[in-house]
Amino acid sequence: MTVLEVKNLKVYFFSERGTVKAVDDITFDLQRGEILGLAGESGCGKSTTAYALLNILPEPGRIVDGSVVLDGEDLTQKSPIELQKIRWEEISMIFQNPRSVLNPVLRVGDQIVETIMLHEDTTPNEAWKLMEELLEVVGIDPAFAINYPHEFTAGMTQRIMIALALVANPKILIADEPTAALDITVAVQLLQLLKNLQEYLRLSIILITNDLATIAEACDRVAIMYAGQIVELADVKTIFKDQLHPYTEGLIRSIPSLLGSEELVFIPGSPPDLLTPPSGCRFHPRCPIATTLCYKTQPKYREIKKRHFIACHHADQLWRKNVWK
Ligand SMILES: Nc1ncnc2c1ncn2[C@@H]1O[C@H](COP(=O)(O)OP(=O)(O)OP(=O)(O)O)[C@@H](O)[C@H]1O
Ligand SMILES: [Mg+2]
Repeated sequence: MTVLEVKNLKVYFFSERGTVKAVDDITFDLQRGEILGLAGESGCGKSTTAYALLNILPEPGRIVDGSVVLDGEDLTQKSPIELQKIRWEEISMIFQNPRSVLNPVLRVGDQIVETIMLHEDTTPNEAWKLMEELLEVVGIDPAFAINYPHEFTAGMTQRIMIALALVANPKILIADEPTAALDITVAVQLLQLLKNLQEYLRLSIILITNDLATIAEACDRVAIMYAGQIVELADVKTIFKDQLHPYTEGLIRSIPSLLGSEELVFIPGSPPDLLTPPSGCRFHPRCPIATTLCYKTQPKYREIKKRHFIACHHADQLWRKNVWK
């Protein structure tokens, strides 16, 4: 069952330097109870996509086209007040920098209780009980509720952020780089928590990361972004084993731990400045199989096999397999 449908979404930053096409025509859906990864190099538009879903874009960002449909309603058409309600009760988000969200001089339990009381019609006692339950759900002993933010490790802080995000029982959780600041073992535990929430609460999760190991560990499907666009989207197994986009293949083969005996690949160049993205396919200047067509015409994002979407002119040509020799 589809819970969220994003269609032809465009988000531009109208900065003094010019128009930054940070998200330029992306389409994807989110299914009930799945973890969808959003992956790609720094600056490719992952966070901007997340902010756009909730219409909380920083200035000078604007949604210039497209729709974000939740339960038959287009969120891009909602007022800020309507969105505020949706933001906790339907879609909740945890941010890249969790410590900036918590107030350092208030006890963590009190902060969660305060948030609960803003959103739910409860007495302080009921809210305190609910807060303790939420802490248990995210694997924190409720006895820690009386502690202050600085007394928690980075991993525990992320768990508190997840508890906070769950106060109004949302259907969708967006997690922006939730494991970026964590040690590997703590990161793996946090991903396990997300998977448990997915399973037991039937939560749909959008997991943003530039780490493919995180994708492999936690996601059901993944959208690979490049320079403001989705270049490939499929289930995780297909992305790792039968990917069709040269960029996806390059990304996967650039990570030693994900490789078998294959040779390590280095993608030349760097992602483009989104003020002046390349013509045609945005990846063409770095692509080993680019042709004149790629330079001239933007490839259409299309469903090449069932539930496997791609934007590459050469995706259905068998000779292009293993392009990074
Ligand atoms: N407030 C802003 N004003 C102008 N441009 C912005 C602003 N915020 C983001 N951008 C631009 O939008 C593009 C996408 O940025 P975004 O933060 O969404 O990338 P990201 O994929 O989340 O990167 P990271 O992995 O580093 O978090 C970048 O080119 C960035 O420079
Ligand atoms: Mg980001």
